[in-house]
Amino acid sequence: MSSFKNPATATLFDLAKARRTYYALTPESPVPDSVIETIVKDAVLHVPSSFNTQTTRVVLLLKKEHQKLWDAALQIMEGLVASGTIPKEMFENNTKPKLEGFRNGYGTVLFFVDYESLDPIKKQFALYADKFDPFALESNAMSQYLVWTALEAEGFGANLQHYSPLIDIKVQENWNVPASWKLDAQLVFGTPASKDLPEKTFQPLEERYKVFGN
Ligand SMILES: Cc1cc2nc3c(=O)[nH]c(=O)nc-3n(C[C@H](O)[C@H](O)[C@H](O)COP(=O)(O)O)c2cc1C
Repeated sequence: MSSFKNPATATLFDLAKARRTYYALTPESPVPDSVIETIVKDAVLHVPSSFNTQTTRVVLLLKKEHQKLWDAALQIMEGLVASGTIPKEMFENNTKPKLEGFRNGYGTVLFFVDYESLDPIKKQFALYADKFDPFALESNAMSQYLVWTALEAEGFGANLQHYSPLIDIKVQENWNVPASWKLDAQLVFGTPASKDLPEKTFQPLEERYKVFGN
């Protein structure tokens, strides 16, 4: 083990190691809403994107607006049960409690990619045209990770969800989201109901990491 020159590096990795998936949440916040907004806005501003294309879009939903999202998801799922697309038993035993758990959080960060904004640069750099969409998603994921880690550093628990395209239309309607914003992930957060998490297992590093020239 070697020690870092900058103590903040150790803190950064302590925060990365402490980030986990929390499903059991309560609808309280350990910090003022302005802190949550600072985290989300700074992630949108400072997370890098390929060619600095800045393709990530974010909608932050708090309290009642957050509940509205998961009520909508529940309603959509109930529709799928009614139409026979999802078995009722699976919905009652699995999907419904899960969605109610998300609803019981304090907020949700919706992460979108504006792929249409890439049209000009795809024309300008035709050789890379097929790379820009995946790059945009990778940049979006970086924002998700930074917000997730920072919210947990501030005392929240969070989990990452993917209910697109199921909820896309409702999200567009409810929060007046431009049609070009393609929803990728939903980061649900709240105060952890318990810090008792399942132990995380790790595949051996030797199978996943190589170094040369050290
Ligand atoms: C790209 C990505 C997609 C994920 N999608 C989901 C998801 O749709 N639903 C969910 O409950 N968890 C999702 N997760 C959470 C992972 O299951 C979780 O991070 C992983 O099991 C490791 O556990 P940890 O977060 O406690 O470290 C996702 C995580 C990542 C990085």
